[in-house]
Amino acid sequence: MRLVMALIGLLTAAACTSGSAVPRFEFAPDMVDSVPYDSFAANPVTRDGKTLMAPARGTIARDATPFRYGDGPTEMERAGKELTNPVPPSPEAMARGAKVFKTFCSPCHGERALGDGLIIPLFTKPPSLVAEHARSLPDGSLFHIISRGQKLMPSMAVQVEQEDRWKAIHFIRSLQAAETGGVR
Ligand code: HEC
Repeated sequence: MRLVMALIGLLTAAACTSGSAVPRFEFAPDMVDSVPYDSFAANPVTRDGKTLMAPARGTIARDATPFRYGDGPTEMERAGKELTNPVPPSPEAMARGAKVFKTFCSPCHGERALGDGLIIPLFTKPPSLVAEHARSLPDGSLFHIISRGQKLMPSMAVQVEQEDRWKAIHFIRSLQAAETGGVR
């Protein structure tokens, strides 16, 4: 029995020698190599051959509201006719809209939306959002411009979630109202 124990001891100690370039015998290697497919690896089992399968056609993420408008002025006008601001105006909505505007829009548009943001004139000066043209655009068109972008203005859809876009629109309207003394 002692001999057996000594042998096991010797073998175990021998397994610990380092410096060898040859891999040692691996006991239960399943624990070393991961069995599942890696997220971005090809996959022979799934329908589309990808491990992270594309969502089925028409899938809508939970809590997401699809925005069914393409790019461009025609779609912008259509959004203006069809969409209304679903967020009721409230001090909270206004405060949030102001924060969103300050964070994501003011670098270009300026804190009072006059087109004099920090980045101007390094970036092309945007039109004033309190001017006649922006005042005449319906809420849905503003929402479309924020969501899809317009010419040089990039889409802000990734940075600003839909509800926050509507709140930012409330805030823009309040800047416009301050500009015109309440007359739109
Ligand atoms: C990278 C700079 C930049 C940022 C950030 C930006 N904009 Fe703009 N925006 C522009 C430019 C430039 C234009 C003019 C585009 C054009 O030529 O039609 C514009 C146009 C607009 C217009 C149309 C104005 C009009 O009279 O036609 C609206 C509305 C608007 N932006 C709202 C926003 C809002 C709201 C945000 C923040 C969520 C925002 N923008 C963020 C640069 C920016």
